[in-house]
Amino acid sequence: MTHATDAIVMEGVRKRYGEKSALDGLDLVVARGTVHGMLGPNGAGKTTAVRVLATLLRHDEGVVRVAGHDIRTEAREVRRRIGLLGQHAAVDEELSGRQNLDMFGRLYHLGARRAAARADELLERFGLVDTGRKSIKQYSGGMRRRLDLAASLITDPAVLFLDEPTTGLDPRGRAEVWASVRSLVGGGTTVLLTTQYLDEADQLADRISVVDSGRVIAEGTADQLKAKVGGDRIDVVVRDARQLASAARLFGDEATVDEDRRLVGVPAPDRMAALTRAVQALEAAGIEAEDVVVRRPTLDEVFLQLTHRTKEAV
Ligand SMILES: Nc1ncnc2c1ncn2[C@@H]1O[C@H](COP(=O)(O)OP(=O)(O)O)[C@@H](O)[C@H]1O
Ligand SMILES: [Mg+2]
Repeated sequence: MTHATDAIVMEGVRKRYGEKSALDGLDLVVARGTVHGMLGPNGAGKTTAVRVLATLLRHDEGVVRVAGHDIRTEAREVRRRIGLLGQHAAVDEELSGRQNLDMFGRLYHLGARRAAARADELLERFGLVDTGRKSIKQYSGGMRRRLDLAASLITDPAVLFLDEPTTGLDPRGRAEVWASVRSLVGGGTTVLLTTQYLDEADQLADRISVVDSGRVIAEGTADQLKAKVGGDRIDVVVRDARQLASAARLFGDEATVDEDRRLVGVPAPDRMAALTRAVQALEAAGIEAEDVVVRRPTLDEVFLQLTHRTKEAV
């Protein structure tokens, strides 16, 4: 169901590139003021969806509304309300961070004084004041992306699209960008963030749509997605690697084995009861366990299982 307060609505959106179907009936609803993660592997259709939403690419079929406006009939209204951080940003290497932001402000007709003020404000907000006068060439990956992010916010957009904002960054750069994205949310901006990183969606998004082959294959909060896929699991780490195979046999076909970690993974839909059974079975078989824990599945497991399922269904 969609509401007047939804910042982004896509219904049955299709987009083909020649014979290739990039969006195959994509549905997406993002409530105003939330961060929505679009999670999918390379080629899933994430960039295509973002480009359609940002009015840079025309879709073939379906309804698309952004910030309350239809992108076909009211593209200008939409453009006025959005910001986009693409996979490849358009900053000028020779200019300083401050000069870049100032230039963007002028491009958006802010006027010299407001453009300068906005540049300073954004440098401050993204922790770039000290480096604002250095040329971009001297920036680290994380600093560059934060500057890209600042540039996408020049016009104070109601809806912001971030297309794989941390791809290619080292862990420190990613952490910096994550902190910046979090700081946006308080301001009421609606964010659609695409990512291939499960932990990124888990960290930043209120809700997540898992996409594969141009379609949403699952949607919900990170917890809902984790719960949807097989529920909790037990990890058993055996002390003696030679007992790994016999330990796995105790748990039947559903057990998974990770030899490097001497670990047997077992589904545990009934949590504590399953844990008790596991401990008893290990004891009866004379297998010493170093560790036995019940845990939620990781988003990686959710994702693998979901994409695997749809491939089977095809
Ligand atoms: N300009 C294009 N021409 C032809 N095929 C394209 C073009 N852009 C994307 N595709 C194809 O459409 C599918 C979705 O691509 P894309 O939206 O870039 O996915 P993602 O961003 O999730 O990696 C892929 O199979 C890709 O190869
Ligand atoms: Mg992409």
